[in-house]
Amino acid sequence: MTIPDVAPLLDGEPLHDQVVFQTRLQRYWPDLITGLTGAYPDQAPEMARRLAMIAAENFRQRPADLRLLDLRRHADPQWFQHQQMLGYATYADRFGGTLRGVAEKVDYLSELGVTYLHLMPLLRPRPGQNDGGYAVMDYRAVREDLGTVDDLRDLATTLRGRGISLTLDLVLNHVAYEHEWAVQARSGDSYYRRYFHMFADRELPDAYERSLPEVFPDFAPGSFTYDEESHSWVWTTFNTWQWDLNWHNPDVLYEFADLICWLANLGVECLRLDAIAFLYKRMGTACQNQPEVHAITQALRAVARIAAPALIFKAEAIVGPSDLAPYLGVGKHAGKVSDVAYQNSLMVQIWSVLAAKDTRLFCTAMNRFPAKPVSTVWGTYLRCHDDIGWAIDDGDAAAVELNGFEHRRFLSEFYAGLFPMSDARGLVFQENLETGDRRISGTAASLIGIESALNGGDDAHLDLAVRRLLLAYRLVLGFGGLPLLYMGDELALRNDYGFADDPTHADDNRWVHRPEMPWDVAERRHQPGTLEHRVWHGLRHAITVRAALPSLHASVEAEIIDPVNPAVLVLLRRSATQTMVGVYNVTPEVQSLPRWVVPLGNWAWDALTEETPLGDGPLRVEPYQVRWFVQEA
Ligand code: GLC
Repeated sequence: MTIPDVAPLLDGEPLHDQVVFQTRLQRYWPDLITGLTGAYPDQAPEMARRLAMIAAENFRQRPADLRLLDLRRHADPQWFQHQQMLGYATYADRFGGTLRGVAEKVDYLSELGVTYLHLMPLLRPRPGQNDGGYAVMDYRAVREDLGTVDDLRDLATTLRGRGISLTLDLVLNHVAYEHEWAVQARSGDSYYRRYFHMFADRELPDAYERSLPEVFPDFAPGSFTYDEESHSWVWTTFNTWQWDLNWHNPDVLYEFADLICWLANLGVECLRLDAIAFLYKRMGTACQNQPEVHAITQALRAVARIAAPALIFKAEAIVGPSDLAPYLGVGKHAGKVSDVAYQNSLMVQIWSVLAAKDTRLFCTAMNRFPAKPVSTVWGTYLRCHDDIGWAIDDGDAAAVELNGFEHRRFLSEFYAGLFPMSDARGLVFQENLETGDRRISGTAASLIGIESALNGGDDAHLDLAVRRLLLAYRLVLGFGGLPLLYMGDELALRNDYGFADDPTHADDNRWVHRPEMPWDVAERRHQPGTLEHRVWHGLRHAITVRAALPSLHASVEAEIIDPVNPAVLVLLRRSATQTMVGVYNVTPEVQSLPRWVVPLGNWAWDALTEETPLGDGPLRVEPYQVRWFVQEA
């Protein structure tokens, strides 16, 4: 398949830029073709031609400063893998009021060491209930109360000037019921009807539903909604007012390819591919993680690499361990799909070790991940804006003599505070009576015991709970990857029970862990003796130490050492210049480890405490203590 001639489209551009564009087109053409062939076998050549045109048209619109950024990223393609990278996720309104308000808070982010900012959905959502902005009615406009498209461009520029890359959500599985495409489809326009999955009767929906799991069993049971206006059953995986797009239709892909480039041209540097697992539907399956999802991602990424290579993709695929690795690419897609993916299993396993005070399941589960492509990164995190679903694999559980179902039940009871002696204060989200699944909402501080320790006025309890939070975050920072902090965790913000006062949030308790930033409380980070001071500085210290350790570069794979003392997790990271052994005591008791477990010389030093060398005796680890032993190569 020959590369189309895009020269006329670039006419008038600086000669150098034309050459650069053509070079990238040649470089990524094979990725584009093979991606398209994987999802649209009969239409790939024509689609590739169309997409090359879309890339060229958008490159033409790309401002000079962003073309320069493209070159800087070419000069340092590992830019998002450096150990100095630190992510932060927040809602623009809850953090800064408006987009301009966010720009005024950049000092706070820099003080923490943030280099990547994920602002939760801010493209214009439907009015009223909108799933926290994940029901977009206009992708080319900003939510009115937050500002304008110009404000968004200005914010991206300000952030970039401060070394912070802006990440936005790209909701590609569904649009709001009010989106123009859906309006047209409802009115009977056959072109736009093909943008959605619409059925005249229940025959096909019933057939699909036989193998479809429920995503929101509580507030939106089933996956199809009857639409009176068009007399059809419409595919709605999430809420009834979120209409799933039909990615079998190439026109949908063109729309998003163009949108991706448009967002990149505003200065967005990373797109979080929301609910990407659900994109492609296939009868008789769960309609998640289908091979075409990866083929489509590869095609979209090729377009972005050609038009705006400074842009990276982050996959939001909150799926079981066996389905996760393909989002960074395995086999023919290796390194050609998303650059970053949420390490959902790691997140679940951290909460599991803390509840069980035992690392054996963690080791088994994390050891099964195939090596990721070296150019990609796990997004490591403890909390995000969503609930926690207990993605514990039955096989992993069985390997350490646990029953998967029982362990999941234990975790949900523990974190809902229902298990005897549990000090967690989570809320149950979307209980599924059929499968027994109970997901959990709550802030990190409330789940980890800080809320109940404060309520009980018990200092010793609070001390342990704070250690636990710092341990959890050191694991997020020390595992290797792009750590993603969720707003408020740096100040140990507790659950916001006021969420129910807002009628558009009342039925969705995920808002309990999406508080507004209390800027007066944030000030206490400068007051020694306060909880906020202790947590902020504990975290900040680990962030600073991490930034200086080459063994924490995200291209390095974490090796999990077999648990000798199941109370202590031992992670080995070997880079060309430095070896690091992270030691994490996940219990409130002092633990000891035989010296041979740490494969480093006696002079290896603890980068966190800068304390005396490792020595040759057994290793003592204090309650919830973390040690990062390093040795230069
Ligand atoms: C993603 C978002 C979640 C939202 C869902 C549907 O999983 O993180 O908040 O409810 O997509 O858009």
